[in-house]
Amino acid sequence: MNTIECIHERMSIRSFTPQNVEDEKLEIITDAALQAPTAMNSRDMVLTVVRGERLKKINKAMEEAVGDEMRSHFANDKGEFDFYRGGNVLIVVSFGPASVLPEQNTGCVMENMYLAATELGLGACWINQFYSFRSDKIQALLELEKGYRPFAAICVGYIDRKPPKKARDGKIVYLD
Ligand SMILES: Cc1cc2nc3c(=O)[nH]c(=O)nc-3n(C[C@H](O)[C@H](O)[C@H](O)COP(=O)(O)O)c2cc1C
Repeated sequence: MNTIECIHERMSIRSFTPQNVEDEKLEIITDAALQAPTAMNSRDMVLTVVRGERLKKINKAMEEAVGDEMRSHFANDKGEFDFYRGGNVLIVVSFGPASVLPEQNTGCVMENMYLAATELGLGACWINQFYSFRSDKIQALLELEKGYRPFAAICVGYIDRKPPKKARDGKIVYLD
């Protein structure tokens, strides 16, 4: 798959098999993240790869942070809280105090990981809740140093169901 084909192939996947993602594939995805451009090359970034029991603990802490009103938004088919969409692994993107324009940097890092996962035949989905909901418990479970803040995460796993491709609307204007 070339780059343009990969861009066209990418979509958000929210249905995964229980198969574990191999470490070698996670290394390729996280390395792709590190290749992203950042404002003024400020690379004060931490990628936290979360799996297994830690992921379940973070899910619980996120459930508390989200609160009763929003809880149902993140329920899976069985009605369980699952903000990471049943992915096998969650890669959390955090930036520290020396980072310039961290929100924009996050977009570049996340798209690189989306594309790397697509190239590897894996599914992935942007998980925004670390940005919208914060708590000391979540921060502690992520073991982030003081001053570092999660901006986004991507869940990754083997694809169970692919949704139909969404329309790609948007205006393109040429000016001469
Ligand atoms: C900034 C941003 C935040 C997003 N947050 C979430 C999220 O929290 N949960 C989720 O399931 N999808 C999330 N998405 C995925 C979008 O819903 C998805 O990209 C959009 O519907 C287009 O579908 P596609 O990715 O298949 O092209 C997010 C995407 C972006 C760019």
